[in-house]
Amino acid sequence: MNLQGGEEKGQKGAAGGTGLWDPVRLGGLALRNRAVMPAMGTGYASRDGRVTPRLLAYLRRRAEGGAGMVISEVLAVHPLGKALPLQLGIYEDSFLPGLAELASTIKGAGAAAVAQLHHAGRETFPQVIGGQPVAPSAVPSRAMGQMPRALAREEISELVTCYAAAARRAREAGFDAVEVHGAHGYLVNQFLSPYSNHREDEYGGDAEGRFRFAREVVRGIKRATGRDFPVIFRFSACEDVKGGYDLDYVLPLLSLLEEEGVDAFHVSRGVYDSPGNPTCPGFHYPAGINVENAARVKGTVGVPVIVVGKLHDPRDADEVIRKGQADLVAFGRQHLADPHFLAKAAEGRYGDIRFCISCNQGCIERLSLEFAPLACSINPECGNEWKRRGEPPACRGPFLVLGAGPAGLQAAITLGEAGAEALVLEREEEPGGQLRAASRPPHKESLAAWTAWACARLESLGVEVRTGCGEWRRLLEEGAWEGVVAASGSRPLLPPVPGNELPINAEAREVLLGKRAPGERVVIVGAGPVGMETAHFLLAKGHRVTVVEEAEAPPLSPLTSHGYFLHRLLREKGELRLGARVCEVTAEGAVIQQRGGRETLRADTVLWAAGAVPERGPREAAAGLGLRVAEAGDAVSPRRLLEAVHEGAEAAEALLYGEEGDGMPA
Ligand SMILES: Cc1cc2nc3c(=O)[nH]c(=O)nc-3n(C[C@H](O)[C@H](O)[C@H](O)COP(=O)(O)OP(=O)(O)OC[C@H]3O[C@@H](n4cnc5c(N)ncnc54)[C@H](O)[C@@H]3O)c2cc1C
Ligand SMILES: Cc1cc2nc3c(=O)[nH]c(=O)nc-3n(C[C@H](O)[C@H](O)[C@H](O)COP(=O)(O)O)c2cc1C
Ligand code: SF4
Repeated sequence: MNLQGGEEKGQKGAAGGTGLWDPVRLGGLALRNRAVMPAMGTGYASRDGRVTPRLLAYLRRRAEGGAGMVISEVLAVHPLGKALPLQLGIYEDSFLPGLAELASTIKGAGAAAVAQLHHAGRETFPQVIGGQPVAPSAVPSRAMGQMPRALAREEISELVTCYAAAARRAREAGFDAVEVHGAHGYLVNQFLSPYSNHREDEYGGDAEGRFRFAREVVRGIKRATGRDFPVIFRFSACEDVKGGYDLDYVLPLLSLLEEEGVDAFHVSRGVYDSPGNPTCPGFHYPAGINVENAARVKGTVGVPVIVVGKLHDPRDADEVIRKGQADLVAFGRQHLADPHFLAKAAEGRYGDIRFCISCNQGCIERLSLEFAPLACSINPECGNEWKRRGEPPACRGPFLVLGAGPAGLQAAITLGEAGAEALVLEREEEPGGQLRAASRPPHKESLAAWTAWACARLESLGVEVRTGCGEWRRLLEEGAWEGVVAASGSRPLLPPVPGNELPINAEAREVLLGKRAPGERVVIVGAGPVGMETAHFLLAKGHRVTVVEEAEAPPLSPLTSHGYFLHRLLREKGELRLGARVCEVTAEGAVIQQRGGRETLRADTVLWAAGAVPERGPREAAAGLGLRVAEAGDAVSPRRLLEAVHEGAEAAEALLYGEEGDGMPA
């Protein structure tokens, strides 16, 4: 995986065998190519589950990108089956006009439109559905902690009817096919699995019984829509959870579903309880994590197989198809990061693609842990397409951007794309700001790739990034600037602890950048992302690491994909002390107070990762000169890439159009 170079591979017209750009048929449905946009919940629906202008604009942009097939986000087949508060419904005919608009928006851009039929089962909250969740058995999932009610036999039959009615509506609305969401631990998956289905009746007991619901759902849909209406079945090939199933268990189901008329299988993995969220593979997973499973499925079934899972690069996808491991490839988060990536790839313009960095922060974790609408850390336009401006900017500069971290780089891109004149000044020798250090720990290279993309984008826009530039004050004072973006970031915080001036103290960023060798034993102060990642970086190089954290709960949540891996690593190879406060540093190490006791943790280096303070100098200097200033990123308050990029874009817009935004995706 991760083919680099070889531009002709994965490009439209590449020679030899069947590849990504070749047409394919799912049942009677002809697709222009084998690239799929899979279902992704957005949180853009209205409170009563209807299609909104925001959702249509977001989907239109993605369908225009060139995929052969675009699958809608989860459509609830029953009001008790919603997983998200702002989820689309398909459980009544009154949803038809909006869904028809959605289908025609996708089809108008040349892609086939597929409706994903969904019931969350136990993977939801009473607050979302206004009642107790239902499930095959009264067993709560660990992730949700909500006790569901076991469905009665008659209710199961009713639900089969709901799926069939929903499919009939999808056809009436103009969709080309439906996808049954049988993956990710939702209701259909709950029935399939011994992990969640403890029934003793005909819908449980053994694999045959557990498979019954899925078969009845597919049969019902085919009866309601006709055998010529294609049905895709999406499933988790393995649940990646103790007590869950693996591919050997679920393979026999596929032949049964084929007999019922399924036209394609879509191979995903994981349930809500799977540690580390393999469903949306983050930094720590390799590319193409489901390819092996898909290849086994392809060897078993006679209909096309779609594979998904961190296949962001169309060259990798092309290779998967050419090797016969799958027939189609779904690109999920890549469609969020850059909706035009397929068009760029088709022309061989791989350097122009803004590749998804697999951070999960702006998309799935924002949706499922922060209960906020979908965004993308590196694409400030994602979800804001409906606000697109028609009018020219009120002012075209020249503008000065102080700082070439993500906030400054994004601000300059937004200025350059609007045709404004801009200059970026960076005091360090290289651009990237903290991303230079952030990309050093294992599996974080994608952050450096984003910086490289941003710099290339600026070059193509003709915007200069002047690095190693210490004379920002003079340039600020002498230029005829129409406005300034203060994107000067933050500097590490060194708390006022006795001994913090001793040479044993160091700062995480300098160690990550190789400016300081920390010795064998290292105490890291702070278990936020910076401290935990620095621990990973040092453990990988064979250092002995203890992380101490004042708070009782880890600031980097183990519920995030990134947090899960870092906590596991530290448990296995290092040590994490929670509720431990460093009260002094001596030449021997860090003196900590924990549960009323005092102890010296011996170390060669005491490494601080205890937060940061904003660099306000550029903002104050520019404001002092009476210039229009817009601030962005850590310079406002230290946070993440997501805030830096989004506020960078907002700061630029404020200068261009003379408006202020809050810097955050709505
Ligand atoms: C180790 C580490 C790991 C991280 N991992 C993640 C992660 O996985 N996900 C995530 O979302 N966030 C992560 N972060 C945080 C993220 O990197 C920051 O939130 C983000 O870089 C802030 O961007 P910024 O542009 O506002 O500031 P910065 O990145 O700090 O950039 C500011 C730039 O301005 C320059 N500058 C300052 N003053 C001047 C001046 N007067 N003239 C010219 N230039 C100036 C600085 O040299 C710097 O290059 C991490 C941070 C660190 C340190
Ligand atoms: C924000 C977000 C929402 C998602 N919502 C759904 C969904 O509604 N239905 C579904 O089957 N999968 C959903 N998924 C999973 C994706 O379809 C896809 O399988 C996953 O992102 C892995 O593919 P990728 O690595 O190409 O992103 C979602 C993923 C993300 C990131
Ligand atoms: S938020 Fe991160 S993981 Fe999600 S699409 Fe954007 S870059 Fe990819």
